[in-house]
Amino acid sequence: MATLRQSYIAGVGHYVPSRVVTNAELEPMMNTSDAWIQERTGIQERRWFEEGKDTTANMGANAARKALEMAGVTPDDVQLIVFATLSPDYFFPGSGVLLQRELGMKNNAPALDVRNQCSGFIYALSVADQFIRTGMYDTVLVVGSEIHSSGLDKTPEGRGVSVIFGDGAGAVVLRPSTDEGRGILSTHLHAQGEHAEELIVKEPGSNRADRLQYVLDNPQELYPYMNGQNVFKHAVVRFPQVIKEALDQNGLASTDIDMLIPHQANLRITQYVQQKMGLSDDKVFSNIQRYGNTTAASVPIALSEAVQEGKIKRGDLVCLAAFGSGFTWASALIKW
Ligand code: UT7
Repeated sequence: MATLRQSYIAGVGHYVPSRVVTNAELEPMMNTSDAWIQERTGIQERRWFEEGKDTTANMGANAARKALEMAGVTPDDVQLIVFATLSPDYFFPGSGVLLQRELGMKNNAPALDVRNQCSGFIYALSVADQFIRTGMYDTVLVVGSEIHSSGLDKTPEGRGVSVIFGDGAGAVVLRPSTDEGRGILSTHLHAQGEHAEELIVKEPGSNRADRLQYVLDNPQELYPYMNGQNVFKHAVVRFPQVIKEALDQNGLASTDIDMLIPHQANLRITQYVQQKMGLSDDKVFSNIQRYGNTTAASVPIALSEAVQEGKIKRGDLVCLAAFGSGFTWASALIKW
């Protein structure tokens, strides 16, 4: 078989809404406490979008503009958009076409939407990587963007879920690598549908005879449900497993990792994974303290900040990993 070309991340960027919501602000709403949230999750604050200003698509576009600028390409150079979100602007069409319009693209490039929750960005990255490897496209824009805050139960009943999630967006531009060995070495995707209902927004489900009447009668069911302890139990197994799978495939060991960017699900999960992989503090990136869990946006926001802060340098081995609703989990190993 002919050797396929490798893709590399030519640009990365992120955008978060300006409204900071501290744990203290949630205390009177949800009968929670700053101490509980910090102890169980590590989160200190998160961002909530501003209605009339931020949308899932335009936050993605703001992140994308930065990634495109870093890559030195224009929106009309983009040949494919892959947009990951669990909180799309509309039920349909997907946010990818809205992002295309937002960026003012006139080239009719295709826009593909990915629905894989916390693993969504790495799934999207993997899709983009395949299109570059086969030679079909040279410039692919991958976006993860989420608005959770408009769909959370902000009463004491919802506190187990609602304190965790935040809003934000991140994006990368993939291009074919011209330096041998540089770029995405491999991606690894998994799913286990038997756990589909463990972390879910079920309604408005299309299989209801009258889904709109159903949600009018049962508005509480529009909120996310999470079996937190069970999700936690699976996460701490799947993260190390999928990181090891990526390392094994490339004949590498955890000591070769220069920076692990895990999906920012819970600081306790990240610390467990760090310890299991034997990584020192400077080799694991965390920003959940400031943004909470932004699902499909969390990995590209973290990657963007790590690059901005000079924590990732040319030649570094970077590992991305995620686990979440579905269950789905994924990793990507990148020679930066
Ligand atoms: O993004 C990828 C997928 N998501 C995850 O990876 C999340 C995985 N799960 C978790 O991170 C944790 O399970 C949570 C942070 C969601 C919850 O932490 P936990 O340690 O599993 O708490 P719990 O749900 O077992 O609840 C423990 C106690 C309960 O009180 P009792 O029954 O012991 O009296 C809850 O009612 O904490 C109570 N509680 C709260 N108290 C104050 C639950 N949520 C809150 C809250 N504030 N926000």
